[in-house]
Amino acid sequence: MTIPLVVGNWKMHGSQAECVSLVRDIVRLQRRKPARVQLAVAAPFTALVAVKKTLRGTTIGVAAQNCHWQESGAFTGEVSPTMLRDVGCDSVILGHSERRHIFHETDAIVAQKLDAALRNGIRVILCVGETLAERRQGRTAKVITRQLQIALKGIAKNGIDNIEIAYEPVWAIGTGQNASPVQIARVHRRIRQVLTARFGKAAGSRSRILYGGSVKPDNAAPLAITAEVGGFLVGGASLAAESFISIARCFNQS
Ligand code: PGA
Repeated sequence: MTIPLVVGNWKMHGSQAECVSLVRDIVRLQRRKPARVQLAVAAPFTALVAVKKTLRGTTIGVAAQNCHWQESGAFTGEVSPTMLRDVGCDSVILGHSERRHIFHETDAIVAQKLDAALRNGIRVILCVGETLAERRQGRTAKVITRQLQIALKGIAKNGIDNIEIAYEPVWAIGTGQNASPVQIARVHRRIRQVLTARFGKAAGSRSRILYGGSVKPDNAAPLAITAEVGGFLVGGASLAAESFISIARCFNQS
């Protein structure tokens, strides 16, 4: 049984000092009464070095929130996967809906980024999710399948061992309206089908499928025991150590 993964997505929040103080609090709470999960924090680029240093000697992972698809070059303002490895990042979030919708990242761009991250030894948390309009039109499964198939097209069979999928319905992100266990179970089952069809039963069954979208301490417990939920990607509620750890502790019961 794979241990669940709970990732805090801090987005564009926090000075170096604030990020360091947040991870210190997370470490302290985790030592006092551990959540039996693997934890990771996706800090802004500017705080990655400080956060990595603060987490030395712990098992908490450090993730970036995005990267470019080339290792270097004339790409003003971008950060490459090689650079992420250089600062000790273990993983990177790719295809987040804010990247897709605000910064117009296409499925093809996400695929290129995913390939580049894996080539550089960085694990990937690949986000997929439908908009409210797509859900209302009954296109959820179709959209998720397309996003996965394009992103995973060029990945070698064993590449899936370095990828987790995060189902993040766009309408649930930052809105306070989480998807229901029934909605989540249905989409996660679909994601599993796509993975096993693409990578075979054994490899396709191994990777964790996280849920993200308005996960809070007061709604996380039933989501944590939902079929095929292998962890959470937490935005707003990960900015306070107490709420982040109490969400992660919901897996202690499952
Ligand atoms: P939220 O964000 O928990 O604030 O809804 C989740 C995410 O964007 O990863």
